Amino acid sequence: MAHHAFKAVLAAGLLAGAATLAHAHGDVAPQAVDTAGLPETGEEWLIENPCRADKGGEAVWLKAVEIGASGYNQNCTRCHGLEVVSGGLAPDLRMLEAGEYGDEWYMERYINGYTQNGVTKMPAFGDLLGQDAGWAIRTYIETRPDTDQMEELSAELKEMRDRLAAYAEDDADADADAIRDTLSEMAAGIDTMSGAPVADSVAFRAANLIDGSPEAYKAAAETLTIGLSAAR
Ligand code: HEC
Repeated sequence: MAHHAFKAVLAAGLLAGAATLAHAHGDVAPQAVDTAGLPETGEEWLIENPCRADKGGEAVWLKAVEIGASGYNQNCTRCHGLEVVSGGLAPDLRMLEAGEYGDEWYMERYINGYTQNGVTKMPAFGDLLGQDAGWAIRTYIETRPDTDQMEELSAELKEMRDRLAAYAEDDADADADAIRDTLSEMAAGIDTMSGAPVADSVAFRAANLIDGSPEAYKAAAETLTIGLSAAR
């Protein structure tokens, strides 16, 4: 590992965090994360995320995003922000490079937390939540979609949402394959900020839901609605 780069990131992290640390709520109890369905990693701490699709396969990756979302929301949101969009209280984690180097830095913080002058600015999570939860949360973080790109697509997403909601009532004219393709195209236009290959955007989720049934159109419409209301 490049030691200098490591230090540079450390310094950047300190600067980013310093301004607003006073209000971090370090005293909230960590919430256990149910990691059933993920590959067990054992005692040794790995240095690279085992839940990526190119490591554990697509199903593991999807499961990790789902488990990671709940683990993140219960344990990290209050400081690092909803959907990993930082409100300034702690560093924005979306830019943390989705590779071995970013993984190492991520795990360093996850395991040890961060203490400054005897004050806990970030609690240590390693022993409390364990490694499997740590990588699941990492997977969720690195797959967050670029919010600016989401915003640019918001009119199209809204139009699609309305179409899907209509198909949920009457799907006589609905062409499931074409709808899935359109959603997939939208999803392909939304990148991650970490460099991870696939962003877990609402378009991506909605595309995965479409199976030709009215229930799926309804669920996909709801998924897009949630994404649209979350966008600024
Ligand atoms: C009590 C507030 C708080 C909570 C809760 C918290 N963090 Fe942090 N986190 C911080 C602060 C503050 C920093 C900046 C520390 C520094 O200066 O390096 C930080 C830094 C980090 C970093 C390094 C980021 C960088 O750019 O250097 C990672 C990774 C991280 N946190 C992950 C997490 C994860 C994952 C969780 C949930 C399991 C979490 N944090 C929960 C406050 C928090």
